[in-house]
Amino acid sequence: MSQKLCSILFLVFVISSFRPIQSRKYNPKKPCKRFSVHMHEILFDGNNAANATAAVAVNQTKLNSYGFGEFTVFNDKLTADSNLSSPSVGRGQGFYVFNMRTPGFNAWVGLSLVFNNSFKYKGTLTITGADLISQGTRDIPIVGGTGDFFMARGIATITTEFEGDTYFRLLIDVKLYEC
Ligand SMILES: *[C@@H]1O[C@H](CO)[C@@H](O)[C@H](O)[C@H]1NC(C)=O
Ligand SMILES: *[C@@H]1O[C@H](CO)[C@@H](O)[C@H](O)[C@H]1NC(C)=O
Ligand SMILES: *[C@@H]1O[C@H](CO)[C@@H](O)[C@H](O)[C@H]1NC(C)=O
Ligand SMILES: *[C@@H]1O[C@H](CO)[C@@H](O)[C@H](O)[C@H]1NC(C)=O
Repeated sequence: MSQKLCSILFLVFVISSFRPIQSRKYNPKKPCKRFSVHMHEILFDGNNAANATAAVAVNQTKLNSYGFGEFTVFNDKLTADSNLSSPSVGRGQGFYVFNMRTPGFNAWVGLSLVFNNSFKYKGTLTITGADLISQGTRDIPIVGGTGDFFMARGIATITTEFEGDTYFRLLIDVKLYEC
C-alpha cells in the first residue's frame, strides 16, 4: 500500500472513532429504569422548627443580591404523589449553594435519594451538579447508586412544581441508563 493510502485510511479510522458517545450506548428516550418522586422542602424560618426540613447553614456573601454563597442543608420528605400529607417513600438528603454572579438564581446541588423498605426499590441514588433553577425544568446527572441501584448512572429531570416563601416542591424524574 502506498503511504498516502495508508494515511487516508488512518484518517478515516480516526474520524469514525469520534462519534458522539451517546449514540454508542445510550438512547435518552430509553432509560433502563424510570420512576418519579416528589420532594417537599420546608425551610426553617425561625418559628417552624417542628416541621422544617431545611435550613440556611451559611449566610450569603455580600458579593451580590442573588444569594451568592448561601448554603442550605436539607433532609426532605419524598412522596409518590404531590401531596405533602401522603406517606413518605424515602428522604432527599443533601445541600445546595447559590452561585449566580449575574441576576438570577443558580445553585450547585449534592443530593441523595434514600429509599428503605417503604418504596419499591431499596438503596440510594446520588444526584449532583449544576441546578439551573431559573430554567424551571433542568437535568442533573445521577452519578451513582447503592443497593437496588448498585453502580447506577443516569439523569434526574427536576421540575419546580410549587414555590412559596417557606415551602417548595420538586418533581424528580429519575431516568437510569446504567442499571
Ligand atoms: C408546619 O406545621 C404547622 C403546625 O402543625 C402547620 O400549621 C404548617 O402548615 C406546617 N407547614 C407546612 C409547610 O406543612
Ligand atoms: C445574611 O446576609 C444578608 C446580606 O448580607 C443580610 O441582610 C442578613 O441580615 C444576613 N442574615 C443573617 C441571619 O445574618
Ligand atoms: C392530601 O392528603 C390528605 C391526607 O390524606 C387529604 O386530607 C388532602 O385532601 C389531600 N390534599 C389534596 C390536595 O389532595
Ligand atoms: C423508611 O423510610 C420511611 C420514609 O422515609 C420512614 O418513615 C421509615 O421510618 C424508614 N424505616 C426504617 C426502618 O428506617
